[in-house]
Amino acid sequence: MASGPSALARAGWTDVVRLSVLGLLPTLAQGVVIRRPLMVRLAAALDTNAWGCRVLDGLRERHGPGPLLVTVPGRTALVLLSADDARRVLEETDVAFTTANREKVAALSHFEPGGALITRGAARAERRAFNEAALEQAAGPWFQEACRTAVREETQPLLAGGGLTWKRFHGAYQGVVRRVVLGDAARDDERITELRDKLRGDGNWFMLHRRRHRLRAELFERTRRHLDRPEPGGLARAVRATPATADVDPVAQTQHWLFAYDAAAIGAYLALGLLTHHPEQAARARADDVYLRACVLESQRLWPTTLGILRDTTTETRRPDGRVLPAGTAVIFVSSYFHRDARRLPYADRFAPEIWLDGRAEAEWSVAPFSRGPARCPGRDVVLLTSSAFLAELLRRDWRPASSHRLGPGGPLPRTADHTSLRFTTG
Ligand code: HEM
Repeated sequence: MASGPSALARAGWTDVVRLSVLGLLPTLAQGVVIRRPLMVRLAAALDTNAWGCRVLDGLRERHGPGPLLVTVPGRTALVLLSADDARRVLEETDVAFTTANREKVAALSHFEPGGALITRGAARAERRAFNEAALEQAAGPWFQEACRTAVREETQPLLAGGGLTWKRFHGAYQGVVRRVVLGDAARDDERITELRDKLRGDGNWFMLHRRRHRLRAELFERTRRHLDRPEPGGLARAVRATPATADVDPVAQTQHWLFAYDAAAIGAYLALGLLTHHPEQAARARADDVYLRACVLESQRLWPTTLGILRDTTTETRRPDGRVLPAGTAVIFVSSYFHRDARRLPYADRFAPEIWLDGRAEAEWSVAPFSRGPARCPGRDVVLLTSSAFLAELLRRDWRPASSHRLGPGGPLPRTADHTSLRFTTG
């Protein structure tokens, strides 16, 4: 991308206003680190992601598929518009592009300073390696068993009766997350979830919110206590078994896991929404765990919980037209734009779990709910295991939609989804 032949197209001020008002503002309003339910509801009612996608489509039509240069006072950014550029940026992560983008660092530092994703250089390589090595151990039968047991027990109250709301689903899923990440002894440590969510709320404001050092110290201390138990369970056991260099604070890495698992709950709940509107696929998902995992992935494609993948350039680059892009230029991959690109994806706006089984999704680098390349999510398999186990338990009952979401096959699926008001009944 940086060495592409053509001059960079530059967004005019009207483009910048449209991008800000129709794309950026609704995204920020919903909360990039923790969702604000009222704003999510409003965004879904207006289908604001569709606005953002239309703006990007229009820019691509006018300026061509190359990355679009957007400048506002104090910040320069490249907005990616083609799948080829997206691939290049994801592949060249850790070389020409860093994951430690300025805004991402500001948002995530509130609760996970020292996390791999917001680290640069040699320390990043060590932290990434630690995450990979620890999370790989989750493929072991001991973890699969621990995860399935936690899921079976925590979903009991949901199966025992009553309708299903996001609040009930989320409460049960959070119980699983604490057990799966920190061990069964952390099951009732709701304070840890509360601290995490308060600090995530601060993260929604990036550098505009002051750092709450005391809350963060309490979060880290509570986490450390679980990791330091004589026989830690869940992923804490993998943490114990993974050597950490001086540059790796395992507590900080675990904060990312606790945070990122929340996206898994949203994706799983929306997957249930899709399945209750697609009986044929639901029947297959009940019988086939691999297909159920594909449904979880497909929910993440349709409504990516990572709203955008952000990078900063690592070095100054001189373009063929003589323009110099400073190091630290932001690069933006808008997930909902690429995941619903009807020019490339015939299945763009419909529920198509089969694309995750027949190689089509794998072949498309621009379909990247768990990112791709050197920063690809090392927690992907853990998420798929947890969410598919959770849904498999729930699918033992015949849930029907009890809210009016347009999740059926009758028309294109909306670009924006509201998980918070989605309800189900068995009555
Ligand atoms: C549905 C849930 C999840 C989604 C959609 C997701 C997605 C992602 C994405 C898109 C990235 C890369 C961001 C980038 O390229 O800038 C990422 C990174 C990461 N994810 Fe996940 N993730 C999820 C859950 C998890 C969980 C549960 C864990 C751990 C147990 C985890 C661990 C990580 C780590 C450690 C990184 C940083 C990788 C790096 O710095 O190279 N994720 N995830």
